[in-house]
Amino acid sequence: MNSTHVDAAQIARYKRLQFTFPEQTLRGKVVLVVGGTGGLGAALVARLLIEQAIPVVGYRSNEVRAKKVKSELESLYGGTVHLVRGDISNSAERKLYIDFASQFGKEVQGCVCFSGDPARANFNELQSADLSKSFNDNFVGPILLVKEVGEHMIANQIPGSLVVFSSMQAVGLFERSLTYAAPKASLIHACRILAKQWSGRHNLRINIVAPGVTVVGMAESSIRSGKYDGYIERKDVCRLGRPEDVARAVRFLLEPDSYVTGQVIVVDGGLSLKA
Ligand SMILES: NC(=O)c1ccc[n+]([C@@H]2O[C@H](COP(=O)([O-])OP(=O)(O)OC[C@H]3O[C@@H](n4cnc5c(N)ncnc54)[C@H](OP(=O)(O)O)[C@@H]3O)[C@@H](O)[C@H]2O)c1
Repeated sequence: MNSTHVDAAQIARYKRLQFTFPEQTLRGKVVLVVGGTGGLGAALVARLLIEQAIPVVGYRSNEVRAKKVKSELESLYGGTVHLVRGDISNSAERKLYIDFASQFGKEVQGCVCFSGDPARANFNELQSADLSKSFNDNFVGPILLVKEVGEHMIANQIPGSLVVFSSMQAVGLFERSLTYAAPKASLIHACRILAKQWSGRHNLRINIVAPGVTVVGMAESSIRSGKYDGYIERKDVCRLGRPEDVARAVRFLLEPDSYVTGQVIVVDGGLSLKA
């Protein structure tokens, strides 16, 4: 019996070693980047501008930084950064993100949620409020955002890619990271559940990026203080992470015809392998 799922013409091309690797596949496509004004997010927005995609860039409250990032990225890379302000812990503001991004004439084909908080609570005096806040910032807001964007894409039959930000601390066990790492680990598990629910029926994918110690963004002041120098001096990693390392991983996952879902890409130079 012959399979009805095989494209004979395609197989014939492969037999002739004719493979296709399309380039600039995000050109003209709308990508919602929540937290794209932050240290890591801005590098992805630069990458999207270089590819002539349409980045719709969300931030929570730091309007001064958002406007500066917009004007500097536009002048360096060309194109337009469409800014939108909204707190993803608020349901109406999550909807606003989807409505705003949908107004560009083309449907949202990707959503990346960089939003997160370092949850710097005093470990020895840990309170329930510290854990609740971290769960809200690092789990509840991001997972509801991607669930709602994913449901919007399913309802409108839009194939695409969702990417959520966790941390190497959710993958390796780093002492005293409980408040930050536990919600980030929950985020991985929840995204993989969504990936399982959505796979097979519709080409909607959801994956997770887990960065290590990266020189910009929320880790910058700790890095500058020398807190992580030991990782390099002990040769746990060969260098500190860069925003381009992270942006490249996200871009891989945003590839429109990708076959990858429910996965965690750890971008940490191998640090979590040694934790
Ligand atoms: N940098 C690192 O070394 C590192 C390492 C591991 C994991 N990560 C993770 O990577 C992600 C990005 O980190 P980053 O260093 O780029 O952070 P960042 O520089 O602090 O930027 C955070 C971005 O998210 C936005 N945001 C925060 N809470 C939000 C909310 N409730 N609703 C909407 N937007 C919100 C911020 O907007 P405002 O500026 O307006 O508040 C900002 O645009 C985070 O999830 C972080 O946990 C970072």
